[in-house]
Amino acid sequence: MTTRYRIALIPGDGIGTEVLPPACAVLEAVGARHGLEFGYDRFDWSCQRYLAEGAMMPDDGIDQLRRHDAVLLGAVGWPGVPDHVSLWGLLIPIRREFQQYVNLRPIKGLQGVPSPLARGTSEVDFVVVRENVEGEYSEIGGRLHRGTPAELALQQAVFTRTGTERILTYAFETARERNGSVVSATKSNGIIHTMPFWDEIAAETGARYPDVAWRQEHIDALVAKVVLDPTRFDVIVGSNLFGDILSDLAGAVAGSIGIAPAANLNPERDFPSMFEPVHGSAPDIAGQGVANPLGAIWSAAMMLDHLGHPEAGAEAVDSFASVLAADGPRTPDLGGTASTEEFTLLVLDGIAAR
Ligand code: NAI
Ligand code: MG
Repeated sequence: MTTRYRIALIPGDGIGTEVLPPACAVLEAVGARHGLEFGYDRFDWSCQRYLAEGAMMPDDGIDQLRRHDAVLLGAVGWPGVPDHVSLWGLLIPIRREFQQYVNLRPIKGLQGVPSPLARGTSEVDFVVVRENVEGEYSEIGGRLHRGTPAELALQQAVFTRTGTERILTYAFETARERNGSVVSATKSNGIIHTMPFWDEIAAETGARYPDVAWRQEHIDALVAKVVLDPTRFDVIVGSNLFGDILSDLAGAVAGSIGIAPAANLNPERDFPSMFEPVHGSAPDIAGQGVANPLGAIWSAAMMLDHLGHPEAGAEAVDSFASVLAADGPRTPDLGGTASTEEFTLLVLDGIAAR
């Protein structure tokens, strides 16, 4: 029996267009072994499109995505287009319209990938659960008296009870599944309205999970601990801004930002979820064919999990983990000389040899 999925592909800009073909190749190879077939609709929504047509995506873009089982995205952003245009013109509308309120970012030390830190990474295994649709990334605010000495800018953070409760609940559920614990990122000593509210809801949620150990830590001290001892953590939950910063840092601590995957999840499955590497479009290496495809491949593996095929997802992860552990070729960000294509072929060989 074959199960078919319709996937929306948004390669975007720069290395986004270089890492999605490897991710699709792995999906197909693993899928063939598990009775899964993927059909793709490719959308050219990008900064190129913005420069040519004045918008990152068409007016009915969200509706075009709606009928897909999932969205696989490379990265968007390009010099010459302000980053807030590419973010607010594409990624943020998709996350919000589809209520992808969880941004899930696993961090795992892989054998054969040395951490830039002295300590090894192989026992590092935690996830960052980032609130993905509200918080500090809000449109509410404005600027006054532009160009005068009295110029000012105001930006409001938005924390709702519903939004805060559901992300903390997701974090505690994840920790329960992993037999782990929760650290809630806060800054209630400095941010005196929204953060105490977050802390209160964390405490209420924690009380509903008596079997899950949890504590809160201030974001400044917390980032230092992630660097000094990343093995201490299991699930870290944070607001949109804190989660964004934490997960890039954590990806780098694990070896390279080119490896780190992310899922934008709508846990209720009312809408498609979206899977994308943590990294951006990397204009500094775009077009050279040397981007590490692992962030994209790992994101595709998370898509397999979400679609209900954890054994296929695990196989995709195992396939690249064994290439790295065998001390074989790797891309330059991991100290090797392999191209994106050479490395992808090795991963595909590994799957074929199973
Ligand atoms: P970036 O992640 O694109 O690059 C940061 C550094 O990491 C660069 O030196 C790059 O060469 C390296 N790098 C990233 N991914 C890599 C990979 N797969 N293999 C090897 N090396 C890799 O972040 P940056 O430079 O801050 O942003 C560049 C553009 O990407 C901006 O326009 C930004 O707005 C956009 N961006 C988009 C994101 C998205 O689509 N979700 C996320 C982050 C940034
Ligand atoms: Mg980021």
